[in-house]
Amino acid sequence: MAEVLLHNITKIYPGDVKAVDRINLHVRDRELIVLVGPSGCGKSTTLRMIAGLEEISGGTITIGNRRVNDVPPKDRDIAMVFQNYALYPHMTVYNNMGFGLKLRKFKRAEIKRRVHAAAEILGITELLDRRPKALSGGQRQRVAMGRAIVREPAAFLFDEPLSNLDAKMRVEMRKEIIRQHKKVKTTMIYVTHDQVEAMTLGDRVVVMRDGIIEQVAEPLTVYNYPETLFVARFIGTPPMNIFPGMLEPDGNGFFFNGGECIRALLPEEMHDAISSCAGKKVYLGIRPKAFELIEDASNSKNSTAWPAKVELTETLGDEVLVHVASDEHRYQVSLDPHTRPDLDRELLLKPLLSRAHIFDGETEKNLTMPVAVKST
Ligand SMILES: Nc1ncnc2c1ncn2[C@@H]1O[C@H](COP(=O)(O)OP(=O)(O)O)[C@@H](O)[C@H]1O
Ligand SMILES: [Mg+2]
Repeated sequence: MAEVLLHNITKIYPGDVKAVDRINLHVRDRELIVLVGPSGCGKSTTLRMIAGLEEISGGTITIGNRRVNDVPPKDRDIAMVFQNYALYPHMTVYNNMGFGLKLRKFKRAEIKRRVHAAAEILGITELLDRRPKALSGGQRQRVAMGRAIVREPAAFLFDEPLSNLDAKMRVEMRKEIIRQHKKVKTTMIYVTHDQVEAMTLGDRVVVMRDGIIEQVAEPLTVYNYPETLFVARFIGTPPMNIFPGMLEPDGNGFFFNGGECIRALLPEEMHDAISSCAGKKVYLGIRPKAFELIEDASNSKNSTAWPAKVELTETLGDEVLVHVASDEHRYQVSLDPHTRPDLDRELLLKPLLSRAHIFDGETEKNLTMPVAVKST
């Protein structure tokens, strides 16, 4: 079993810099979990505390049922895979992979067995006699991985291993890591600031901000049901549109008032969840894809219709992203590519409110989270 448990983990650097603030996380056995968040949010610090490279200021870390707070890095049974792979250029692939075991005084026969087994898993058996410079980027990544695999660790840790690569290579490497994870079937904790990478790699993603965890969930859950305003803004390209406004009681229901042009009677399903914010400031969040173009204004009488002026259009293949302005608001809607509207044209847009979210203006929590998908 190689679960990794973080219990109330805190890191305070000298000078009273609180990099990580009482985080709790349960990484499941054999899971590929991705820590994601903007630069400086505490991802590397968290990973380095798990690895034992950084002292813990408070809390407990457990790896595979063993409390490791005071266990030195080399005895923690984990392997860190670094950004630049750090392969020894003068050594063959075989020796690069076996070197760590040799240092640990493993017998030659055991080193041979493990290197060959790892090479087999990674499909690099025929490269064992080569040196790193005679390998492609993908092959080097496999060797770096192989070097970690031979140690048979309880968990692998990755800190932005792909951030030096160009976009195409990154996509290749992501596929590679997913493949490796499937084969090796070991717990992996992966750090990145790139939300697309997090979404494509992770069994689950952990969204961090300023030393705390905002949400832990499967990628699609984080996308469809962001627990906080921060997650809503951070996950998704193009980003979710966020409108500040007031939640006004209206007869039996609630009306979102975001100014002249951004107004909507909210769906009945939301009423219970949002009633605590009646008369208060809230944010309405709605993804660019949750809009429809109203072609015929005379049909719009009974539905919400937001007037907006086209400022820019971007054709993205199967959709056209239209940047619009209305009053002081600027937002983006994703429309059918055949409807590419002219610049400065006045549109009427219908927000699909069943797919909108209401965030508390003070706590910035998503009030409209379905109970069933709250953080795991
Ligand atoms: N050795 C250090 N000494 C003091 N502050 C540090 C040190 N390392 C990181 N920090 C601070 O801790 C915070 C988190 O850093 P880090 O974990 O590297 O973030 P991330 O990996 O998410 O970019 C930042 O504010 C950073 O400046
Ligand atoms: Mg970092």
